[in-house]
Amino acid sequence: MERIRLGVNVDHVASVRQSRGTKYPDPVFAAFLAEQGGADQITVHLREDRRHIQERDLEILRRTVATALNLEMAVAEEILDIACRVKPDMVTLVPEKRQELTTERGLGTAEEGVLAPAVARIKDGGIKISLFIDPEPEAVRSAHRLEVDQVEIHTGFFADAPEDRRAAELERIKAACSEGGSLGLAVAAGHGLDYVNTRAICHLPEVEELNIGHSIIARALFVGMESAVRELVNLMAEGFAER
Ligand code: PXP
Repeated sequence: MERIRLGVNVDHVASVRQSRGTKYPDPVFAAFLAEQGGADQITVHLREDRRHIQERDLEILRRTVATALNLEMAVAEEILDIACRVKPDMVTLVPEKRQELTTERGLGTAEEGVLAPAVARIKDGGIKISLFIDPEPEAVRSAHRLEVDQVEIHTGFFADAPEDRRAAELERIKAACSEGGSLGLAVAAGHGLDYVNTRAICHLPEVEELNIGHSIIARALFVGMESAVRELVNLMAEGFAER
């Protein structure tokens, strides 16, 4: 690998739009600017409650994204139908609860039986498949048994950890990434990553891709989308060079 790919999650541009039911700001426009800033992928989460991204966004993005389109979604028949029709380049399966503020945890081994038919349907549709999993070697082995293309390791526990827990949380991520690498899975990471804590994740040798949303959209408010993405791309390049 020559560098780490950056998937920019534009959900929260849609959150602002949905908060007032306006036509702006448009996540499609944000995706275009993110690509101009160096994003390698655009990531969106079509939630069952449609709190931010709408089907309309996904359909337009499928036609306009010049890099790759990654659809995060729960295992739900309705969303699976949409995914198989729209055909993003990749689907990332995530657990989803209606009440949560954001995705709170990754998939664990308990879901293996539920995941198997969904994974098969997505693969039959010719779409690459990634599983968003907790930083546990057993969750990685479970993903491997499901024959997915990629695992995305949940970095939220690390990002939210108090100072005295941070090193231990990073060790958990490290162990999960190493298990993924040794099983031949592509390894991504994401959730809660920002302009400070991303560097440590870039040092992990197996990490090929990061999916980052909230911190980029927040920074874009002040410096613009293109610059916010470019700053992170540069930071990731520095972190990668330090491996
Ligand atoms: N990866 C996955 C699987 C996610 O569910 C999310 C949140 O939608 C992200 C990455 C991005 O997280 P954040 O917005 O905290 O950067």
